[in-house]
Amino acid sequence: MKAIIPAAGLGTRFLPATKAQPKEMLPVLNKPVIQYVVEEAVAAGVDDVLIITGRGKRAIEDHFDRSVELEDLLERAGDTEKLRQVRGISELAEVFYVRQKRPRGLGHAVLCGAAHTGDQPFFVLLGDVIMPNASCLKRLREVHERYGASVIAVTPVEEQYVSRYGVIAGHEVEPGVWKVTDLVEKPAINTAPSNLAIFGRYLLTPKVMEILPHVEPGRGGEIQLTDALRELLKSEELYAISLECEGYDTGNVLSWIEANIALGLESPEFGADLRERLEALLGRGTRGEE
Ligand code: UTP
Repeated sequence: MKAIIPAAGLGTRFLPATKAQPKEMLPVLNKPVIQYVVEEAVAAGVDDVLIITGRGKRAIEDHFDRSVELEDLLERAGDTEKLRQVRGISELAEVFYVRQKRPRGLGHAVLCGAAHTGDQPFFVLLGDVIMPNASCLKRLREVHERYGASVIAVTPVEEQYVSRYGVIAGHEVEPGVWKVTDLVEKPAINTAPSNLAIFGRYLLTPKVMEILPHVEPGRGGEIQLTDALRELLKSEELYAISLECEGYDTGNVLSWIEANIALGLESPEFGADLRERLEALLGRGTRGEE
């Protein structure tokens, strides 16, 4: 199965860090965000990854390419572990690239992959969203196979924050699986049909690629994937799975910090030391407040 990873956005929420480097290359611990995303796809059986890039995103291509000078150096130094790590990145999957000439929105970025996915269903994984648990794509695929329809991942958000997200309306057809009847972009708190927000992972039928060229620019003048999915509802069913695990939108500075702390605490390499340092920092904060 193929996956599209849109990574051509400007990352304005993360300026100035993203002025001259892709936000998808920001590290969480010692690994760039987009490597987590590609590894998640590979773990779910994806063998063909199409990354949508744009101007200023060269570092992404370099990251998944061989680095001959670095490999020579590590080989000469006898550092086999680092050598294995560096080579492994370039061997993760068959990675292809298409450039989105201008960041015209997520829907437009996905459309840039139409020739690549053809008449097959495909995954979409946002290049700045980390899902620490690999089960999300597996569940998307199971539900897709059961209902023969597109499936999107949603996550419950606190009610006061619904107006920041695209939210689904629908009813639960089995535990954790929703049949979507509508999608509402950034609803007001009192009009939101649910608190289930669309969150970074999709399995879409080729019909979406037929719809996208006709989608008019929507919110922010961008071609929105959500608008294409709303149009899709007129001709096909759409399902949503509610995520059990927590994902991180690393394009948002606070979530990126949270991802570093959460994954850091779980890491065998950094976990124990990080916990100690955090406790010391928090202790210092409390003392300061007294
Ligand atoms: P975001 O909406 O988070 O990206 O898109 P953005 O536009 O870069 O964000 P801000 O608001 O300016 O900070 C989610 C994913 O879709 C990609 C982004 O790179 C990100 O990985 N994207 C977005 C594109 O590939 N092209 C676009 O035109 C927009």
